[in-house]
Amino acid sequence: MEKRTIIVTGGAGFIGSHLVRLLVNKYPDYHIINVDKLTYAGNLANLKDIEDKPNYSFERLDICDFDAILALMQREHVDGVIHLAAESHVDRSIKDPFTFARTNVMGTLSMLQAAKAAWNGEWEGKLFYHISTDEVYGALQFDGTLFTEDTRYDPHSPYSASKASSDHFVRAFHDTFGMPTIVTNCSNNYGPYQFPEKLIPLFINNIRHRKPLPVYGKGENVRDWLFVEDHARAIDIIFHKGKPGDTYNIGGFNEWKNIDIIKVLIRTTDELLGRPEGADDDLITFVTDRAGHDLRYAIDSRKLQRELGWEPSLQFEEGIRKTVKWYLDNQDWLDNVTSGDYQKYYEQMYKNR
Ligand code: NAD
Ligand code: DAU
Repeated sequence: MEKRTIIVTGGAGFIGSHLVRLLVNKYPDYHIINVDKLTYAGNLANLKDIEDKPNYSFERLDICDFDAILALMQREHVDGVIHLAAESHVDRSIKDPFTFARTNVMGTLSMLQAAKAAWNGEWEGKLFYHISTDEVYGALQFDGTLFTEDTRYDPHSPYSASKASSDHFVRAFHDTFGMPTIVTNCSNNYGPYQFPEKLIPLFINNIRHRKPLPVYGKGENVRDWLFVEDHARAIDIIFHKGKPGDTYNIGGFNEWKNIDIIKVLIRTTDELLGRPEGADDDLITFVTDRAGHDLRYAIDSRKLQRELGWEPSLQFEEGIRKTVKWYLDNQDWLDNVTSGDYQKYYEQMYKNR
């Protein structure tokens, strides 16, 4: 098997940790370098099962630190970058847009500049793969339309505006300098290890503890949900077989109204906890809507299916059950994350470096 040295940024986060696990287990001859700053969303406990593998290493770095990223790329002869590190929560972007511009825009630019300097025009065998979101396309109405790779960008939140900007920089580096780049835009992911500020893990945890479920607006907004391991599998296929310069949408054709998904979460959690059906329906609490709340997202991923043969592997009912069970079985992980204890541990560990 060909040897490769790949940086995965944001590998201690939700999607990044699933991707790192997949690559480390599947490609023993690759060197997978996880570059992560360990913000509140990064947690090395997500990678406990692979942290001692010889083909894995971790570098605690800020993607905005151009000098450190360049030095790492040169020292390790990195030939691939899969860039996931980002601020990822829409509600936080409404409160603190500067952090999103810094990490998502300047951080991506810093990664691109470092790759350009390290590769120095020798593009053969190199790839800069940028992980983006369907939110850059804006919002759809309830009319059955889907986001395709040609849909015009129309971001509404500071988060999606920052991701849109980073996508443009990546394409600009392809068009201006000839850097081999790929951008993928994926729909909402769900599964184990997601930080419990996002809808699904937050609500499972609240149901377990019989805390109110804050449903924004009327709960009528629609999201298109994909099991996180299917996203990681798609990234693997696209990294190896995708066409440089191209864009691929990733999604499972799996649209759900928030209120309907919330009912499924209540039913599944109660059933797994042995509570009677309907016991926790009254936790649903309608609250003030998210500012600028996009009505509907829905991805057309037929190009990826047709050209590269990727298919989602899991039916939603199975994926949700697996996910609820994982959070119920891993209460320690949730407690650790909600208390912030994992961060104190890493701060201590890195204090004297
Ligand atoms: P996450 O918030 O769980 O993880 C982000 C990771 O990036 C964390 O480990 C964090 O420590 C790290 N990070 C943040 N700022 C950094 C910096 N300055 N330097 C180095 N590391 C830094 O995010 P996620 O949900 O796993 O999303 C990963 C990527 O996928 C993001 O780019 C996001 O926009 C994109 N995406 C997410 C979804 C989704 O549903 N979660 C869907 C489509 C696309
Ligand atoms: O579409 C891809 C995007 O999906 C990713 O790019 C983002 O990184 C990821 O966070 C996610 O964004 P959303 O805003 O769609 O996810 P979130 O889990 O925050 O919210 C899902 C839906 O649930 C959304 O319509 C808002 C609603 N919601 C969310 C929370 C946290 C609630 O009604 N109540 C809540 O408390």
